[in-house]
Amino acid sequence: MSAFHPRVIPYFGGKARLVPRYPRPTRSEIVEPFAGSATYSLAYADLKVTLYDTYPLLVALWRYLIRVSPSEILSLPLVQHVDDLPESVCEEARWLVGWWMNSGSTAPCKSLCSWGKAGTRPNNYWGVGRRALLAEQVARIKHWTAHEVSYENLPVAQHPDATWFVDPPYQGSDGTHYSQDNSSLNFTHLGDWCRSLPGQVIVCENTGADWLPFEHLAYGKAGLNRPGWLSSAQALWTSDPRPVQDIFDLMAESSSSTELSGDTVKGDSEGE
Ligand SMILES: C[S@@+](CC[C@H](N)C(=O)[O-])C[C@H]1O[C@@H](n2cnc3c(N)ncnc32)[C@H](O)[C@@H]1O
Repeated sequence: MSAFHPRVIPYFGGKARLVPRYPRPTRSEIVEPFAGSATYSLAYADLKVTLYDTYPLLVALWRYLIRVSPSEILSLPLVQHVDDLPESVCEEARWLVGWWMNSGSTAPCKSLCSWGKAGTRPNNYWGVGRRALLAEQVARIKHWTAHEVSYENLPVAQHPDATWFVDPPYQGSDGTHYSQDNSSLNFTHLGDWCRSLPGQVIVCENTGADWLPFEHLAYGKAGLNRPGWLSSAQALWTSDPRPVQDIFDLMAESSSSTELSGDTVKGDSEGE
């Protein structure tokens, strides 16, 4: 796994802290059919990465992040309210700045939250440190692509041997918060679709979801940073026939123990 910082959008349901717990990609391409903030792909950013999502604003923001230069990011003003940005700042950059006004939102915000104003974790919010990290990150994703496509219409044949990281809105109440939420998902269909994908398939859910034989993975906050949010029991289904624990053992053999600890993701040391 690269030491690359795994967040460019502080998205509700993002998996930044949990990324080290998932199996590593075994293919040279990662496809995320429910991309969100694509925290899994960001940990392996040098691979070919293809993102799909149905949230138009989010896909437009990804396309901006893919094309924008580091110097353009560094030129974005340090404001505490999006409306204080000059008119010359494009819409996508306003969404980016707005998302970093808060932590773990499903959509861009307008003004810096009280935690951001308190300044205790400056890299978690729009400011000089986060802006510098973003400038580094956008330089690493120039070869990525992002598409506004629902998973049923995704051109699977274009990805004949990929690592599929499938992280849909969850079946339970956690999946109801998104602009594109779980209400239109047929989980029986989605389960069959996941089983049919070619290559390595990793599917995320909460423990208790019943549309695939999920195994408990970890208790994790995922991308949520707000006090009062309870940790959820994260679960995993993978097409890899080895049991989850075996995969972790294999990962442990080939990695340093610090890298594997879910609590020592690089982001945490930076106040994520
Ligand atoms: C749990 S989030 C993904 C989180 C992501 N793994 C991350 O690290 O940020 C689920 C995403 O699925 C998207 N989505 C919802 N319905 C979809 C559909 N039918 N096809 C593709 N994406 C969809 C939502 O817009 C949302 O961004």
